[in-house]
Amino acid sequence: MTTDTFENPSDTSGDHLRIEPSILYFGTPVALVSTLNHDGSPNLAPVSSVWALGMLLVVGLGATGQTARNLRERPELVVNLPSADLWEHVERLAPLTGRSPVPEGKPPGCRFEADKFGASGLSPLGADLVDPPRVARCPLQLEARARHVRSDDSGDHVIVEAEVVRVHAAEDIVVPGTHHIDPARWNPLVYSFRHYFGLGAERGRSHRSQTPPREPVSPVRS
Ligand SMILES: Cc1cc2nc3c(=O)[nH]c(=O)nc-3n(C[C@H](O)[C@H](O)[C@H](O)COP(=O)(O)O)c2cc1C
Repeated sequence: MTTDTFENPSDTSGDHLRIEPSILYFGTPVALVSTLNHDGSPNLAPVSSVWALGMLLVVGLGATGQTARNLRERPELVVNLPSADLWEHVERLAPLTGRSPVPEGKPPGCRFEADKFGASGLSPLGADLVDPPRVARCPLQLEARARHVRSDDSGDHVIVEAEVVRVHAAEDIVVPGTHHIDPARWNPLVYSFRHYFGLGAERGRSHRSQTPPREPVSPVRS
C-alpha cells in the first residue's frame, strides 16, 4: 500500500473505511521468548507474533534482533506467557535489544542491554529439557526446540517453527486433577495496536471445550 493512493480514509461499501494502518497488531497474546547468547547468558524478548498448531509454535521475528540470531545458532527457546498484570515488566523490555551494536532498523531509542532479566524485574528459572531459562512469574512456560528458522522473502523477518517439548502451568490455572488450563482463571496479556489488555468476562465456549461445564466467571486478576 502507498500513502498516495488514499490520502484520507475513504468510504467503501456500507460502514467501512479504506485505511492504511502502519501496523496490523490486531490483538494477540504477548510472549517473552528466552534464548541463549553465544556466551551462555540469557536473552529475553517480548513478541506478539506467535501462535500454536498442536505442539508446533510459529514465531515471527525481526531478522536483525538478537533472538533471531540466537535461534539460528542455538535452536532452543522457552516461550513464556505472561498474565495481564505483568504488562509493565514486558514494557520495560520494549526498547531493549540483546544485540550489540544496536542493528540498523531498530526503532529510535532502542538500546543494548546485556541483562534483560534484570532490566525487566523478572527472575529466571531453570528449564527441564532446554538450556534457556523460564520466566518464573509467567503462568505458562513452553520449552521448545526450533526445527526451522528461515527468512521471509523480504529478508526483514525470520519465521521460526518450534516444537514444544514441555509445558509448565501454574497450579492455580490448571483444572484440578486434569491436564487442562482453566480458561476462566488464565488471563493472558493481549497486545492490541500497541496497547496492553487483559481478557474481559467469558462470552461463551467452543463445542470442543474439555473443561467441565459451569457458570461463566470473570477472569482472576492479581
Ligand atoms: C508487546 C511487544 C510485542 C512485540 N512483538 C514482536 C514480535 O512479534 N516479533 C518481533 O520480532 N519483535 C517484537 N517486538 C519487538 C521486540 O521485542 C524488540 O525488537 C526487541 O528489541 C527484540 O529484542 P532482541 O533484539 O534482544 O531479540 C515486540 C515488542 C513488544 C513490546
